[in-house]
Amino acid sequence: MRSTQVAIVGAGPSGLLLAQLLSRNGIDAIVLERRSRDYVQARIRAGLLEWTTVELLQEAGVAERVMRDGLVHDGFDVAFANGCHRIDLKGLTGRSVLVYGQTELQKDLVQARASDPGAVLWEVADVVLHDWDTRAPRVSYTHAGARHELRCDYIAGCDGYHGVSRAAVPPQQRLQFERVYPFGWLGLLADVPPLHEELVYAHHERGFALCSMRSRGRSRYYVQCSLGDKVQQWSDSRFWDELAARLPERYAGRLVTGPSLEKSIAPLRSLVTEPMQFGRLFLVGDAAHIVPPTGAKGLNLAAADVRVLARGLVEFYRTGSTTLVDEYSHRALRRVWQATRFSWWFTTLLHRFSADPFAQRLQSAELEYLARSSAASRTVAENYVGPSFD
Ligand code: FAD
Ligand code: PHB
Repeated sequence: MRSTQVAIVGAGPSGLLLAQLLSRNGIDAIVLERRSRDYVQARIRAGLLEWTTVELLQEAGVAERVMRDGLVHDGFDVAFANGCHRIDLKGLTGRSVLVYGQTELQKDLVQARASDPGAVLWEVADVVLHDWDTRAPRVSYTHAGARHELRCDYIAGCDGYHGVSRAAVPPQQRLQFERVYPFGWLGLLADVPPLHEELVYAHHERGFALCSMRSRGRSRYYVQCSLGDKVQQWSDSRFWDELAARLPERYAGRLVTGPSLEKSIAPLRSLVTEPMQFGRLFLVGDAAHIVPPTGAKGLNLAAADVRVLARGLVEFYRTGSTTLVDEYSHRALRRVWQATRFSWWFTTLLHRFSADPFAQRLQSAELEYLARSSAASRTVAENYVGPSFD
């Protein structure tokens, strides 16, 4: 039987970043990942990093490419009623955000961990968590055709929304708060220049649209779609036409179209699990909580969890004190609920929910208020750049 100090389930951003921070502090961790290394490195998801996330990547020694290739954004546009209102993040909060694809971050993290042979086991199947409510937890799994067991001091469940870690805790021992939104996002990636140098979040009676980017030559665009829609129903030309129809004329006229490199549909939901610690098992990132992508918070929350947990584990292995580790759930949840509230609010403001004219008038009134009131803009900016750490 193998043993390690911290067994980590899942090699997404949370699992790999935690492993990297622990390793830099002399703590042994083994990551068990269900998918192949190539699959994980190709997954296309988030694109926006808060500054506290960037600082954590620096601390983990994986920020070289982030700092070189990331695009600093000092603001973004909210488009509605054929006009635009800029949220001046830098001017209102003194802080900016960084555009850097999760796919690239994932590659940086895999690369960093690759220097530690055996630290990540790829293509592991049937992971089962045992005895996490005792002082001697274990994880069993199948790798290269054989069944194995890993003894550890702690288990970090970093295996995302569909993982086994949250499900290992009996439902009567956890609370689950959930909201499913009645629509999805259809995303398209293309090697065309972004239509604007900053992100554009657009509210339109046809539905929400977002213009984002990965680099100066690669754009990431999204349109709100029906939950039942299939990607095959959306040809590239249908997507481009729909996107243009939802943008103010001055942006629609500048849209450069091209063949899609990838297209996918993501449902929108909010989920929070409480607590995030069960004995010697921690839930981290999407395994513990999901937010709709409108506020760009998912990856940043995952990084914030990792920061709190890594601090606690480092203190434990240095001093034997479990004070910080025991505060993990409480500290992480404070930030999680702030982000959940903002993501819900921003989603509600910008999407088309129903044909109810009263709800639609309220949405328009709120958007007009945002455009008129610097206090309202500042509230959005503060939430968007994220809280700093205490
Ligand atoms: P994941 O990335 O889901 O990683 C979990 C890992 O665990 C995966 O590698 C998985 O294969 C593995 N795994 C699962 N089950 C098992 C098992 N049984 N055994 C072993 N391994 C397992 N966030 C932002 O901050 N900014 C954005 O701009 C943003 N945009 C987004 C846009 C879209 C369209 C979507 C869908 C999400 C977006 N997010 C964004 C959210 C962000 O992508 C996630 O929050 C982030 O990936 C969470 O990382 P994680 O490591 O916790 O989970
Ligand atoms: C992205 O670039 O994928 C992205 C950016 C901002 C969001 C969501 C997604 O709010």
